[in-house]
This record gives sequence, C-alpha cells and structure tokens, in this order.
Amino acid sequence: PRKIILSRHGESQYNEKALIGGNSSLSVRGERYSRALPEAVIARLPQDEAVSVAVWTSTLKRTIETARFLPFPKLRWKALDEINAGICDGMTYEDIAERYPAEYEARKKDKLRYRYPSGESYMDVIQRVEPVIIEMERERECLVIVAHQAILRCLYAYFMNVPSEDIPRVAIPLHTIIELTPLPDGTMSEVRIAVD
Ligand code: F6P
Repeated sequence: PRKIILSRHGESQYNEKALIGGNSSLSVRGERYSRALPEAVIARLPQDEAVSVAVWTSTLKRTIETARFLPFPKLRWKALDEINAGICDGMTYEDIAERYPAEYEARKKDKLRYRYPSGESYMDVIQRVEPVIIEMERERECLVIVAHQAILRCLYAYFMNVPSEDIPRVAIPLHTIIELTPLPDGTMSEVRIAVD
C-alpha cells in the first residue's frame, strides 16, 4: 500500500473500567476520538485528488463506532476482532490474579505462547490475522485499520519486523494514530500522532 494508518478504537466503556474483552460501546472520551479521527487521518493522506482509501475494522462495536465518521468505504473483518480472553473475558487483570493466580503467572511468564482457557494466545492471533496481512500486502492504495491492542501489535510487528517474543508488549496507545509508509528500500517509516 501507499500508506497504512493503524488506530485502536476510541476508549470503550470496558476500557474505562479496565475490563478486558467484551463488546462495549465507546465512552464519552472514545466518542470524542471518533469525531476527531477523520481530520487527523485526512491530514496524513497523500494530498492528490485521485487518492483512494479503504477503512478496515473488526466486527466489534467499538471499532465500528470509532470508524463511523471516516468518509471512506469500510470493510469488517472477524479476523481483526480482539484476542479472545476465554474464561477471563470481562475481568480486570486484578480479578484474574485473584481468581486464577496460576493463569495470571503463566501469562506473565510467556505472554506470547500463553493461551487463555477457552480462548487464544498471541501465537493464535498471529495465525488468525495472516489472511488480513495477505490482503494488506495486495492493497495498492491507502489503508486505515481500526482494531484492537493485541491485533495491532501483531500487524505492526509484521510490517516493522518486531521479533515474536516482543510482540505482546509493543506499545499501541489509545487515541494515537500510527502511520506506516513503505520506503523504496523495502522498510517502513513510522510516525505516531496523538489525537485529542
Ligand atoms: O484492555 C484492552 C484489551 O484490548 C483487552 O480487550 C485485551 O484482552 C487486551 O487489551 C490485550 O492486551 P494484553 O495482551 O496486554 O492483555
């Protein structure tokens, strides 16, 4: 593609309460991000008339709501839904440490390979997003991807050559766009812009 713009969804009602997973709507702050996003994205796009842009989201409410005001065609990918936390879905990290201390420790020890009971690991997610990456590689125009923390870590890592072991800890903050631009030498340049 000419350019890839990555963004997490705006702050969700679950984020406000530090709950993982779920399918909540945006918080008031998240709503504000969704309204600020179009201007921030458009400012980063190539300024030629013929520029074409596609917006890809997950199938979860928080990414769909975040992308709502972007004036470009949209596509929803189930493969972009957040990591499935299985039996821990809807809990805080503190809840997990208390209720499932062994799970909490196991994840801390090997976050890349740890699989939530009835859920997924980062390794699972890396596999799951592979079809999306193949389509990203085929895309010739600009792509805006509105997804989730774990998902964006995997996409970012692929394009920026982050070693697997580091993927689960890549910083993908809320309310920030990450702009990746392919360079002639085959690498990507990166710009991060906080949007508020
Ligand atoms: O807290 C937001 C969130 O997207 C959760 O839904 C998800 O489980 C988590 O981040 C993934 O991040 P980590 O792998 O660091 O727990």
